[in-house]
Amino acid sequence: MTEAGSPRAAPVRDVTRRRGWLGDGRTSAIIDLTAIRENVARIRRLTGTEVMAVVKADGYGHGLVAAARAAVSGGATWLGVAFIEEALALRAAGLDVPILCWLAVPGERIGDALAHDVDLSVSAPWALDEVRRVAGQRGTSARVHLEVDTGLSRGGVTASDWPTLLDAASRAVDAGCVQVVGIWSHLVHGDDPHHATTSAQIQRFDEALAVAERFGIHPQVRHLANSGGALHVPATRYDLVRAGIAVYGLAPAPQLCSAAELGLRPAMRLVAKVALAKDLPAGAGISYGHRYRTAEPTRVILVPLGYADGIPRNATNIGPVWIPGVGRRIISGTVCMDQFSVDVGAGADIAEGDEIVVFGPGDDGEPTADDWARALGTISYEIVTRIGPRVPRVYEGDGA
Ligand SMILES: Cc1ncc(COP(=O)(O)O)c(C=O)c1O
Repeated sequence: MTEAGSPRAAPVRDVTRRRGWLGDGRTSAIIDLTAIRENVARIRRLTGTEVMAVVKADGYGHGLVAAARAAVSGGATWLGVAFIEEALALRAAGLDVPILCWLAVPGERIGDALAHDVDLSVSAPWALDEVRRVAGQRGTSARVHLEVDTGLSRGGVTASDWPTLLDAASRAVDAGCVQVVGIWSHLVHGDDPHHATTSAQIQRFDEALAVAERFGIHPQVRHLANSGGALHVPATRYDLVRAGIAVYGLAPAPQLCSAAELGLRPAMRLVAKVALAKDLPAGAGISYGHRYRTAEPTRVILVPLGYADGIPRNATNIGPVWIPGVGRRIISGTVCMDQFSVDVGAGADIAEGDEIVVFGPGDDGEPTADDWARALGTISYEIVTRIGPRVPRVYEGDGA
């Protein structure tokens, strides 16, 4: 930079507005563990139901173990994951609440799951056969949750196959190798929870529960709702809600209600230091393909985050970022693998080493992950879960 006092001195800069999140770092996803804890407490209060915090996919990008610990300290009495390895990592970290794991293929580490008291979803007849066989070999009783398909046509057995599964399950219970801890299903329209399909699913779920009763199966927990159902449709709550996105402070149905209106606080703030700031003339093409061209002489900054880090390439010319002292700007030109550029305007007081915010809770006017999702025509889930491993997670708040 030009030294102060020389003819081309940079303007005196107000460093107090620089937050100093990054220290010597280049980029960070700063995770507010207090927000996760308080979001769970909020979901508990709003629903009056036990909460299973869904921490699959590395805690929706926030960190599996850290997110799980914060959620449990906020009152989550269950944890939910997709895969057995995720559950085993939680157990290895000392989390001892019930954990449900709901996606497997034949031949997975069922023995390890049983050894570590992991509840398994039985979402197809083969799964019951496998769980029963492994539990029999180990001389233990597997804790299972039977999944009924109430309309999503994803996991779970259909209504017509449900009695056959229940019959097999009740025989496995009698043989002592299975306990049916739960019966569950999953909503089609978690992002539009008042959709007519939701009430049809509630009805089918009730019917499935009634059939289970006839087979003598009385589960400890019945669960149907994800965040959208839990927060917007009380009839979906049953004994337990499986909340994911709301735990991380993002709105499940942002068109109905914002995170702030729900009393939730986004837990992830994605920040980066400026690698380069340079003044360019009017008409300069920026980045691959020159998909952005400066309209007038301006300053352009380079940010060391790219699509390899989870900034979608289609954020080109639409992804919003927040520049301290400048305000919101849009990514200018093609997002590259490791970097993107932003036209910050002529004379903008921003230089190498300054910190910018890609998204955060919105306190300072920065975009939220919900804003990113809206701009890109996707959902906030995709924005936060895709932040890649090159971006260090830095924890702040209670338990950091
Ligand atoms: C089976 C199941 N339950 C609950 C959830 C949590 O959903 P949400 O993040 O919408 O709360 C998910 C997430 O995809 C899921 O797959």
